[in-house]
Amino acid sequence: MLVDSTIQLIENTPLVELKNILSGEGKLYAKAEFIQPGGSVKDRAALHIIKDAYESGKLEKGRLVVEMTSGNMGAGLAVVCNLFHNPFTAVMSEGNSPARVKMLEALGAGVVLVSQVDGTPGRVTGKDIEAAIEKAVALAEEKDGFYVDQFNNLSSINAHYRGTGPEIWNDLDGDISAFVAAAGSGGTFVGTSKYLKERNSSIFCATVEPAGARVLAGYPITDPKHVIQGIGYGIQLPHWEPELVDEYLSVTNEEAVRYRELLAHKEGLFVGFSAAANVCAAVKLVECGKIGAHPKVVTVLCDTGLKY
Ligand SMILES: Cc1ncc(COP(=O)(O)O)c(C=O)c1O
Repeated sequence: MLVDSTIQLIENTPLVELKNILSGEGKLYAKAEFIQPGGSVKDRAALHIIKDAYESGKLEKGRLVVEMTSGNMGAGLAVVCNLFHNPFTAVMSEGNSPARVKMLEALGAGVVLVSQVDGTPGRVTGKDIEAAIEKAVALAEEKDGFYVDQFNNLSSINAHYRGTGPEIWNDLDGDISAFVAAAGSGGTFVGTSKYLKERNSSIFCATVEPAGARVLAGYPITDPKHVIQGIGYGIQLPHWEPELVDEYLSVTNEEAVRYRELLAHKEGLFVGFSAAANVCAAVKLVECGKIGAHPKVVTVLCDTGLKY
C-alpha cells in the first residue's frame, strides 16, 4: 500500500475479530483505532475539526490552535496541525499520564499542565477537566488562538457519522446486531450510532460508563477517581443524544484492568483502559442474551496501551 501523506493513515481502520475473548456464541469485532498516527480514535475528530475550521474560514495557516485534552485529542491535533502548518498548544490536567506529555512534546506541541482540583495522578475528575478547560479558553483568548472546544464542536460527531459508521457498515455488509462505545466527548458513540441506526434502526447501541461515574445513565457519582482515562468525566455532554442509547452499560476499575490484560495476553492487543472497558461491556451485552443467540457486536479499541 502506498500513501502520499500521513493524513491517509487517519480513518479506514480495520475491524479485528476478538475470537479468543468471546467464549460463547456470537461474534465480537473491535475497530483498531489505536493504529492511527496519534495513537487513538481522536485522530478522526482532530482531522475533521481542523479541515472544517479551514473550510469555514475560522482558521488559517500559521494561527495557533489551542485545546484542553486528556492527551489523545492533543496527539491527534499535534499530528494534524503539523501537516496543516499550525502551531498547537495542549492544555492538560497534570493527572493524565506523563507518557502523553512526552508524545505531545515529541510532536512539537506546546504543553500547559493544570494542577488537579480533586483527582489524583492517573485519575482525572470532572472538576480537573473543568479547570483545564478554563485555562485553555483563557490561553486561546490571550494568544488569539483557535480554540477547538471538542465537547461542543460538531465536527467531532460528524467525523464518526461520515467515517466510523460507514466503515463498520461496509466491512460487515450491514450485518450488525450491536454497537458498544464509551463516551468522552460522546463523538464516537453519537456519530457512529446515528449513522448505524439510520441504516438499520434495529441495531442495538449501548454506551459504557465507569461503574462509579454513571451520569449519562442518570445515577449520582460515587467514584469520580476511576482508572478509565479519556471517558466518564461525570459531566453532561452538550451533544449527547439519549434517544440513540438502547442500554447504559458499566464497567468497574477491576474489570477494565482485567480486560486490558486479557486483550494483551489472548489477542496480542496492547490497548488502553477505555478500549478494555468497551470490550468488557460488549462481552457482558452478548452474555446477557438480550441481543439474540448469535449476535454480531462491534466495539472500539480507542487507544494504544503505550500512553499509560
Ligand atoms: C482513551 C479514550 N477513550 C475514549 C475516548 C472517547 O472518545 P469520544 O470523545 O469520541 O467520546 C477518548 C476521548 O478523548 C479517549 O481519550
